[in-house]
Amino acid sequence: MSFIVAIDGPAGTGKGTITKLIAKDFGLINIDTGATYRLEMINQNVSINEKDKIIKISETIKIDIKNNEGIQTIFLNGEDVTDKIRSKEVTALVSQVSAIVEVRLNMVKLQRKLAEGKDVIMEGRDITTYVLPNADVKIYLDADVKERARRRYKENLEKGINMTYEEVLEKIKIRDHNDSNKEIGSLKIAEDAIVIDTTYLTIEQVKEKVADIINKAKGGQQC
Ligand code: DC
Repeated sequence: MSFIVAIDGPAGTGKGTITKLIAKDFGLINIDTGATYRLEMINQNVSINEKDKIIKISETIKIDIKNNEGIQTIFLNGEDVTDKIRSKEVTALVSQVSAIVEVRLNMVKLQRKLAEGKDVIMEGRDITTYVLPNADVKIYLDADVKERARRRYKENLEKGINMTYEEVLEKIKIRDHNDSNKEIGSLKIAEDAIVIDTTYLTIEQVKEKVADIINKAKGGQQC
């Protein structure tokens, strides 16, 4: 029987980092669903206005995710695109791509297939509510928008991405709005999700909280 941990939340709450750490500690396969939407615009020679072409890509795209101790490497047609999908250009478009209903339905199908029969931790915006609503553990990570922007700004500096704090904050607000107003798979808190506000918590503290929740769920399963 598979064991599934689902984590949702807005950008900058630490979902990606926590998911990696928990995946490693609990031996779970890490599936970052945002990456599947990001892949749509890589090496495809397509503009955001070409909706039909974008939908076609979502029907045929061949994604290969490799996991090693919680670290996810993403391949597209054999090329390692793990870093490329995080570029400023892709980040600026991905929210619109992920809002196209047909793209969403195709990606959700793919995400469910990636999780089938496996022990996984999957993170995104609609995992607890739509992709894997029967997950064994459902967590919603949240944080104040200014703190989330501060974290992203710092991350960008480390990666050499040149953006002011104000720009980052504005972009996060726009993405929050887009992510919460989708026809399918909008970001919302599942009724049975456990909410963790990470604004004043370190990554280590959040990790501990998530690990406790998983351990309790695993204990319950064995009874
Ligand atoms: O987590 P991320 O920044 O890589 O996500 C990229 C975009 O995809 C973001 O705008 C939200 C969207 N997304 C989504 O709509 N549903 C998911 N399950 C994951 C991401």
